[in-house]
Amino acid sequence: MTEHQELLQQADNFVAATQEDVNPRWYPQVHLAPAAGWINDPNGISYFQGRYHAFFQHHPYSAQWGPMHWGHFSSEDLVTWKRESIALALSEDYDLDGVWSGCALEHQGKLYVFYTGNRWANGKDDGDGAIQRQCLAVSSDGQTFTKHGPVIESPQGISNFRDPKVWKQGEKWWLVLGVETPEGRGQVWLYSSAELYTWEFNRVLYEDPDPDAFMIECPDFFEVDGKWVLVYSPMTSVRRQGYNQRNGHNTGYAVGIWTPGGDFKVLKSFAQFDFGHNFYAPQSMHSPDNRRLMFGWMGGFTLPLASQAEDGWSGHLATPREVSLSKDLEIIATPIPEFKGLREDTVAEGAFTVDTDKTVELVADLPVGEIELTVDLDKTSSEQVSLLVQQTSADRYIEVAYDSLSNRVILDRGKSGSSDRGYRSAPYVGGSQLKLRVIIDRGSLEVFINDGRYSLSSLAFPTEGKRGFSIASVGGVITVSDLKIHCLKSIWGD
Ligand code: FRU
Repeated sequence: MTEHQELLQQADNFVAATQEDVNPRWYPQVHLAPAAGWINDPNGISYFQGRYHAFFQHHPYSAQWGPMHWGHFSSEDLVTWKRESIALALSEDYDLDGVWSGCALEHQGKLYVFYTGNRWANGKDDGDGAIQRQCLAVSSDGQTFTKHGPVIESPQGISNFRDPKVWKQGEKWWLVLGVETPEGRGQVWLYSSAELYTWEFNRVLYEDPDPDAFMIECPDFFEVDGKWVLVYSPMTSVRRQGYNQRNGHNTGYAVGIWTPGGDFKVLKSFAQFDFGHNFYAPQSMHSPDNRRLMFGWMGGFTLPLASQAEDGWSGHLATPREVSLSKDLEIIATPIPEFKGLREDTVAEGAFTVDTDKTVELVADLPVGEIELTVDLDKTSSEQVSLLVQQTSADRYIEVAYDSLSNRVILDRGKSGSSDRGYRSAPYVGGSQLKLRVIIDRGSLEVFINDGRYSLSSLAFPTEGKRGFSIASVGGVITVSDLKIHCLKSIWGD
């Protein structure tokens, strides 16, 4: 066994041992999460040897962020998933302080992984900055990797320099990564290569127009519906603009025109991607059937999560989304159609009216499930269309509501009972048919508005007891033209 293999084995053994202590009350059933420990960014989202692969930033040794490994999930059909052995550990001089985020791609029968090898400049923490190099590792089976070392060195005077994403365009390979300039601006740099091993700096592809955005994390650059989209996660100390960018970490995107060798001509600069409390660092792939699939992370760096303190795990990936672009250059991101493969029973179905100021319980216990709701707003006088989800008592629930006064959709965890509170709010731009799709997991909610035009993704931890689902009206009636409630089975096939 090599030293790297020993480290991987040790990490796997630790997770297997601590998994027994993981408290199931909020642990996800329909979202990708390691068996125990910490997860952040999705990495290496790819298709290789007949399977989809989702690697991820993983700290196997606690539910806190720490020295990063690459964990690994795989799936044949994007419905049922398998937990694979940890793929990359910290083993070499260039990655001893973390195998950080990156990507994966198939080339000539092998899986090529690019990641950031992190070293702290002072040898112990981020106090004096870091040396971040882009490194290559190659696999023949998609499971075990041979590390080839750095392919892009850390430039002099730059500390934050990471998260490579590679794709092929024409005859060349292209790579984007995120940079903090010495002047404290967040930029995306572009490189090119003929053979994946040697890389040439091409240009600064993008600078965040916000002068407070000092670093760009996890840039992802791809073509969809005839335009180029740059999805990125800016780091900034000041971001609270009304309803927008309210989290410690927010993701957004820019849309423009790009041809290889040219500048990125931006047509639309930063727009928020997902309006919930917890959605960050997404990464996409081009699927064999020509779709743009995106995986994001639902977790948090800034506030402690209830599951971290006592339950032995932290965070999970978001439901994979299929991405397209509207005519007005807005990203539409909707759960991949495969997600419907998790539906088991449809426990309620139909059209009905909710009378003025009434709360109607629809399901007595729905800890994991999916709601598809269509409301005829022309025949609705209620000020809100309010869904009480994960309701454990009269005053403990998580609320998802269309608010007709502000014409927005809100997700409010103020009465959830655990973890940080606060509500989030997304614009409503649909017409008279309000469509809400809500994915309920034991410790999170994802809300998709009018087929993915906007979304809200939040971790939310209910109190003990049966978890009901009700609909409530305020000062008027609600006309539900269609409602379906599905139970969902676990993504692990158990
Ligand atoms: C984003 C990020 C990346 C980095 C990784 C480290 O969440 O900070 O920039 O590569 O996480 O875990």
